[in-house]
Amino acid sequence: MIEMMKKALEVEQIRKTYVGGVEALKGIDLSIEEGDFFALLGPNGAGKTTLINILSGLVSKTSGKLSVHGISIDDDAAQAKLRVGVVPQEFNFGIFEKVLDIVLDQAGYYGISRRQAYPNAKKYLAQLGLWEKKDVQARELSGGMKRRLMIARGLVHDPKFLILDEPTAGVDIELRRGMWDFLRELNRDKGVTILLTTHYLDEAEELCRNMAIINRGEIVASGLIRDLLATMEDESVILDLDHAPDEGALSDLAAFHPRIIETSLEVTINKQHSISRLIQLLSAAGLEALSLRNASNRLEAYFLRMTKKEDE
Ligand SMILES: Nc1ncnc2c1ncn2[C@@H]1O[C@H](COP(=O)(O)OP(=O)(O)OP(=O)(O)O)[C@@H](O)[C@H]1O
Ligand SMILES: [Mg+2]
Repeated sequence: MIEMMKKALEVEQIRKTYVGGVEALKGIDLSIEEGDFFALLGPNGAGKTTLINILSGLVSKTSGKLSVHGISIDDDAAQAKLRVGVVPQEFNFGIFEKVLDIVLDQAGYYGISRRQAYPNAKKYLAQLGLWEKKDVQARELSGGMKRRLMIARGLVHDPKFLILDEPTAGVDIELRRGMWDFLRELNRDKGVTILLTTHYLDEAEELCRNMAIINRGEIVASGLIRDLLATMEDESVILDLDHAPDEGALSDLAAFHPRIIETSLEVTINKQHSISRLIQLLSAAGLEALSLRNASNRLEAYFLRMTKKEDE
C-alpha cells in the first residue's frame, strides 16, 4: 500500500487585500510535505510575510483555505497554532524584558507554564549561544543575538513545523553557518518541517529541497530546487586559463559567446555546446584551463528570470 505523504501545510487559493486596496496575495496555492525544508522566495513586497502572518494569525486572510498538519485554521486556530513555531521578520519582543523571560512567557501563549517550559528554554538558548545572556535585557543584545532569541522563542513549545521569515538577515557569515547547522539538525534529526524565506539564494540552495517563488502576490514557480534549476539550459561559466588568450585564438569558440577578462574567459555552455567540447577547442588553440566556476549562482539566475519586471 502506498502511504499518502502527510502535509505540514496546505494553502488553497489564499487571497489578501489590505485595507486601502493593496492586493498582497492573489490566490496562492502551496503545499509542503512533512519533513521538508522549503524555501519561499520572492522580491521585496512579493507577499511572503503576508502569507506567514496569515499563518501565525497576525493578519486575517480575505479568502481561501489554510491548514497545518491537516487542521484548518478556520476550524481550530488554537490547535493549528500549537503545531507551528513562527520566527517573524520584525523583532517583536519587549526590549526591556530579559532574554529568558521572553522565551518562557511565549510558552504561556500555548498553555505551557513557565516551569514546564524551562528545560526547553534552557536547551534552545544554550544551543543558540544565548544562555549566558539569559538575565540580560533584550535591548542589550546585538542584532544577530536578537535573531537567535526569536528562534529560541519560536521553538519553546517544540513545534513540528517551524516557519522563519528572513532568519539570517543581518547575521554575519560565521553565525549564519552556525544557524544553518542548527536548522539542518532540527530538520534532519528531529524531523521538524521548515519553511524559510530569505533573500540569500545561496542559502536557499544550500539548505532547502523544495521551493516556491512568489512575485507580486502570485506563485510563479514551485517544485524541487534541483528540477527547477535543471530547466535552465544555458549556464554561465568562468575558466581561468594558463595565459591570456587573444581574440584570434578564440574564433572557433564563437558558439560559446566567449568574453575575455584578463587571463579568464567567461562562456555560455549548454547541451549543444558542452564544457568538454570547449576544453577540446581551447586545447587546440594552445590554451589550458586551470580552473572552472559558475559565473553566478544558478538559483539567482533562475530567480531573476522568473521575477523579471514586465516592462523590462
Ligand atoms: N499592513 C499592511 N497594510 C497595507 N499594505 C501592506 C501591509 N503589509 C504589507 N503590505 C503590502 O503588501 C505587499 C506584500 O508585502 P509583504 O510584506 O508580504 O512582502 P514580502 O514578500 O514579505 O517583502 P520583503 O521581502 O520586503 O519582506 C506589499 O505591497 C506591501 O506594501
Ligand atoms: Mg517580508
